[in-house]
Amino acid sequence: MPTGPWVKECEEAIASLLRDPNRAAAFVVDAGAGRMAACAMGLLLPRLPGPDSGKPFNGDISTVATDPEFRRRGYARATISALMGWMAARGCKRISLASSPEGEPLYTSLGFTRDAPRMSWRVR
Ligand SMILES: CC(C)(COP(=O)(O)OP(=O)(O)OC[C@H]1O[C@@H](n2cnc3c(N)ncnc32)[C@H](O)[C@@H]1OP(=O)(O)O)[C@@H](O)C(=O)NCCC(=O)NCCS
Repeated sequence: MPTGPWVKECEEAIASLLRDPNRAAAFVVDAGAGRMAACAMGLLLPRLPGPDSGKPFNGDISTVATDPEFRRRGYARATISALMGWMAARGCKRISLASSPEGEPLYTSLGFTRDAPRMSWRVR
């Protein structure tokens, strides 16, 4: 289990985001007894209407993980697919994520591609 003040802060932030159905959603596989086998969480990011689309959001998938004990059973595929469907139904034009090497084959099989020329900058 992770420790540190950020854990409580993160719990509160997730609870707050999930209270608003136009901010975020999380899909999980429940392992019973307070345990979670897998989860995928994502945020809706407002976007401006443009000439090719008036869709109101882009989607950002941020927290995908399967407990090592439950891997290779299709749980990540199921939770991410449900999240992608939710984001599409809410009006997302594009869904993005930062992949780990482990996650890349799954995302590729779901249709995600590298998104050049997008760049990002980390605030220090
Ligand atoms: C990546 C991760 C979420 C996959 O979870 P999972 O529940 O085991 O995934 P699934 O069972 O739904 O697997 C779906 C597909 O993903 C791919 N895959 C999953 N684990 C893989 C691995 N270790 N190596 C290569 N491909 C893998 C396969 O294509 C698999 O399809 P297959 O079962 O037909 O071979 C899990 O390994 C994990 O939590 N890793 C650590 C955290 C992480 O990397 N999260 C992703 C950050 S974006």
